[in-house]
Amino acid sequence: MGLQQILALFLFFLSLSSAQRPNIVFIVADDLGWNDVGFRNPDMKTPNIDKLATEGIIFENAYVQPLCSPSRTAFMSGMYPFHAGMQHMALNHGQNVCVPLNYTFLPQELKKLGYATHIIGKWHLGFCKWECTPTYRGFDTFFGYYNAAEDYFTHTAGGYLDFRDNKLPARNYSGEYSAFTFAQRAVDIIHRHDVSQPLFMYLPYQSVHAPIEVPKKYEDMYPNVMNEGRRKYSGMVSALDEAVGNVTQALKDRGLFENTLILFTADNGGHIQAYSNNWPLRGGKFTIWEGGTKGASFMYGAGLQKTRTRYDGMIHAVDWKPTLVSAAGGTPEPTIDGMSLWNSIRNGLPSPRTEFIYNIDYFEIPMEGHAGIRVGDYKLILGYPGELDGWYRPMNGTQDDIYEEPVYIKGDEPVQLFNIREDPTEHNDLAQKTPDMVAKLRARFEEYKKTMVPANYPNPDPASDPRKYGGVWSPGWC
Ligand SMILES: *[C@@H]1O[C@H](CO)[C@@H](O)[C@H](O)[C@H]1NC(C)=O
Ligand SMILES: *[C@@H]1O[C@H](CO)[C@@H](O)[C@H](O)[C@H]1NC(C)=O
Ligand SMILES: *[C@@H]1O[C@H](CO)[C@@H](O)[C@H](O)[C@H]1NC(C)=O
Ligand SMILES: *[C@@H]1O[C@H](CO)[C@@H](O)[C@H](O)[C@H]1NC(C)=O
Repeated sequence: MGLQQILALFLFFLSLSSAQRPNIVFIVADDLGWNDVGFRNPDMKTPNIDKLATEGIIFENAYVQPLCSPSRTAFMSGMYPFHAGMQHMALNHGQNVCVPLNYTFLPQELKKLGYATHIIGKWHLGFCKWECTPTYRGFDTFFGYYNAAEDYFTHTAGGYLDFRDNKLPARNYSGEYSAFTFAQRAVDIIHRHDVSQPLFMYLPYQSVHAPIEVPKKYEDMYPNVMNEGRRKYSGMVSALDEAVGNVTQALKDRGLFENTLILFTADNGGHIQAYSNNWPLRGGKFTIWEGGTKGASFMYGAGLQKTRTRYDGMIHAVDWKPTLVSAAGGTPEPTIDGMSLWNSIRNGLPSPRTEFIYNIDYFEIPMEGHAGIRVGDYKLILGYPGELDGWYRPMNGTQDDIYEEPVYIKGDEPVQLFNIREDPTEHNDLAQKTPDMVAKLRARFEEYKKTMVPANYPNPDPASDPRKYGGVWSPGWC
C-alpha cells in the first residue's frame, strides 16, 4: 500500500469514528428553580422537558454554584470558580474581567474531536476584549448577549443593545421575545448543519431570569395562579419548554435526534424574589443552601443505558465538561477540577465524586454564600450562607410575599453542619452535637482554601461605556 492509500484509509477510519460521535446539546435554563419543572411540580406545564427527563435520567444531586457567572465558568472550564477568581457574584456590566484566557473551554476540547460548535444565548463570562468572547473561545458561531440580564424584547441591558450575531451587533430583532429568537436560530443551525460532522450546541437560554416578561399567551396558561409575578414566571417556563420542544423537533426532522445526547441544567437555584421556587429545599439563588446549589437537571439520549430514571450520585458543575468530553469519545484533561462521570451516569453506577466545594469567597462584602464544603453525606457551612434562609412555597397570593432583608455577617461564624442524605432540606444543624465531623470537614476545607485565587471583582470601568461603541455593549476596552 502506498502512502496515499494509507492516508486515505486513515481518513476513512477517522471519518467513521467521528460520524459515530454523538451530537451534544447542552441546555442551560437561567435561574430555573428546583420546583419549577413539571417532573417535580405538577402545577408547571413543561411537557417537552418532562418527556425528555422521564425518558432520560433525572439527577437528584447535580450541584451548581449559587450564581450565573460562577456556574458558567465551571460548565465551560471544568474548574471551580474559586480557582479562577470568578467566585464572587455574577459579573457586572463593564468590569474588566473574563475567565482566565489560559483555561481551555469545552467547545475547544470538542473541536479537537471534530465537532461543529455553536452557542446561542447568554455568555456572561466576560467581554472586555475580543479574546474573552465566544468565537475566540472555541465556538464557531455566537448568537446572543454578553451580560447577566436584559430586556427579553428590546435586547438592551442598562438601555444599550446587547445582542450579537457572531461579532456584529444584531439590531433587527427588537420586539421579538428571545425564547423564540434563540429557538429559531438553533433550528436554523440544525437544518444547515453538515451531518458528516458531529454537532455541539450550547443553549444557555435567557429564560427564565428576570425581568419577568412573557407574551400573554403563555401567562394565560396559568389562570389558577393568583400572584401576577408567579403567573408570568410560570408562562416564561412554558415558553422555554416550547423552545426545547422546537429544538428537539428540528433534530428529529434532520434525522439527528437518535444520535444526540441532551444535557439540561439550571445554572443555580431559583431566585425566590423573582418568583422562582425551590420548595422543599432551603434558600435559593445567591445562597449555598441546597435551594441555591442543587440544579434542576437531567440527561437524555445517545449512550445512556436506560436502566433507571433517577440518578442519585454526586455531581458538580465542574464535572459536565469532562463528562461530555468522555461522552464524545475524547479523553478529559487530567489537570482540571472536574471528573468524568460518563461511565457512572450512563451505567447507573455510584459517582466517583465524594466531595466538592460550595464556595470559597473571602471578598470584603459577602453578597452570596461565603464558604462551604460537602464531604460524603455531610455539609459544612462557614459564616454567611447567602441572603434568604428559609423554605418558601410558590407565591400564590395577590400580593408578593415579603421576605426578610439579608443580614450580612463577616467571617467564618456561625458554623453549621448538616447530614444532607438524611436531611436534604437542612432543618437539623448538627454542629454542636458532632464537633469531630465539623473538625474533619473544616480541615478538608482549609486544604482547598490554600488553593483559592482571590475574587477578581473590580469596579466597572468607565471605558466600557456603550456610548463609545454606537450604543452597543462591545469588547475593546481592556
Ligand atoms: C493560568 O495562569 C495562571 C496565572 O499565571 C496560573 O496560576 C494557572 O495555573 C494557569 N492555569 C492553567 C489552566 O494553565
Ligand atoms: C436580521 O438581519 C440579518 C442580517 O441582515 C438577517 O440575516 C436576519 O434574517 C434578520 N432578522 C430579522 C428578524 O429580520
Ligand atoms: C415553536 O415552533 C412553532 C412552529 O414553528 C412556532 O409557532 C413557535 O413560536 C415556536 N416557539 C418557540 C418558543 O420558539
Ligand atoms: C392558587 O390559589 C388559588 C385560589 O386560592 C387556587 O385555586 C389555586 O389552586 C392555587 N394555585 C396553586 C398553584 O397553588
